[in-house]
Amino acid sequence: MADLRTNICNIEFKNPIMTAAGPGAKDGDLCIKAYEGGVGAIVTKTISSKSADVPRPCMAQTNSGFLNTELWSELPLERWLEVEYKKAKSTGLPLIVGMGYTKEQISEIAPKVKPYADAVELSTHYVGTDVTPIVDALKAAKEVLDVPVFMKMSPHTDIKKIAIALEEAGADGLVMINSFGPCMSIDIESGYPIMGSQTGYGWLSGSSIKPLAIRCIYDVSQVVDIPIIGVGGISNGKDAAEMIMAGASAVQICTQAILDGPNIYGKVNKELDEFMDRKNYKSIDEIKGLAIKKSNERKFRTNSIAPKVDNDLCVKCKKCIGSCVYEAIKLENILKIDEDKCFGCGLCVSRCPKNALSIEYK
Ligand SMILES: Cc1cc2nc3c(=O)[nH]c(=O)nc-3n(C[C@H](O)[C@H](O)[C@H](O)COP(=O)(O)O)c2cc1C
Repeated sequence: MADLRTNICNIEFKNPIMTAAGPGAKDGDLCIKAYEGGVGAIVTKTISSKSADVPRPCMAQTNSGFLNTELWSELPLERWLEVEYKKAKSTGLPLIVGMGYTKEQISEIAPKVKPYADAVELSTHYVGTDVTPIVDALKAAKEVLDVPVFMKMSPHTDIKKIAIALEEAGADGLVMINSFGPCMSIDIESGYPIMGSQTGYGWLSGSSIKPLAIRCIYDVSQVVDIPIIGVGGISNGKDAAEMIMAGASAVQICTQAILDGPNIYGKVNKELDEFMDRKNYKSIDEIKGLAIKKSNERKFRTNSIAPKVDNDLCVKCKKCIGSCVYEAIKLENILKIDEDKCFGCGLCVSRCPKNALSIEYK
């Protein structure tokens, strides 16, 4: 069995899977359920000085991703302080308290959450895209807290520039990414936007933003030395491994935990473990940032190398043939690729449901 423990800012995590600030950690009871579901740490729903007036409807699964317009916690700060953090803390897991947004709000909230927080996560989502208010919020937290302060980054920003500024200003870690947008979806039966926000806008999350999260983590992990906690589109162990290979030290799950419930955390952890075993990786550190090393080694090429076919695995579904615009694939009892016609685009490999096709990524 691989060693899935991870250490971030001297906090020991028994596994690298966390809740994310969102509905899956919207109160103490759900934090306990997340613990029972196998999570390695709890990140609570973002609180602010005032409870959120959440527009409704505020969540929807569309055929191209999950939309929300949830803002932050609808529970008052006092309720979190009196009831919810105590329940979350009763799990014995590291507790990362989500809070936001402006320096004034952080100055008010941070001293109050201090007794419960093993670390805090500051959402930058509603303070604009300029560096200054984001750094000011961080400084307000650092002034009163002696636990690690993690900054949650939004992807609709100059994320590298902000990450560098935050590291220089003393951030202990980064959490990336928040949901992406603003985005919009319309109910064509009625013509109304499906999100109840005044603009009709919502924020995109789930598997459709995973490539964006991977790219952000990959970029930022090369320009800062502080740890990154990855979030965005994780629904299985392979996704978690991919995010760690991009440079994350641990991962959070939000959308898939809303859709599947709290057992998702243990399932992702188990699948990550199985993947590590299959590849004979011994620890999280061994795969952390692996893609950066591999990309640096890779030779840029523009010549075509045709995929290899394993006909024992091929189930003759013809998905590869249907989407080969170069007409390079034929099924004549067995699947054959015409190397002269093949452009080496790689699409067929990604469409094959049985891994019967493979291509060199190096
Ligand atoms: C319904 C919903 C509510 C969310 N609420 C918060 C929040 O209060 N604070 C925050 O920082 N992020 C919030 N997020 C963003 C998630 O924590 C996460 O960063 C994002 O959804 C990407 O991860 P995922 O694809 O696993 O959902 C929310 C996301 C969703 C879907």
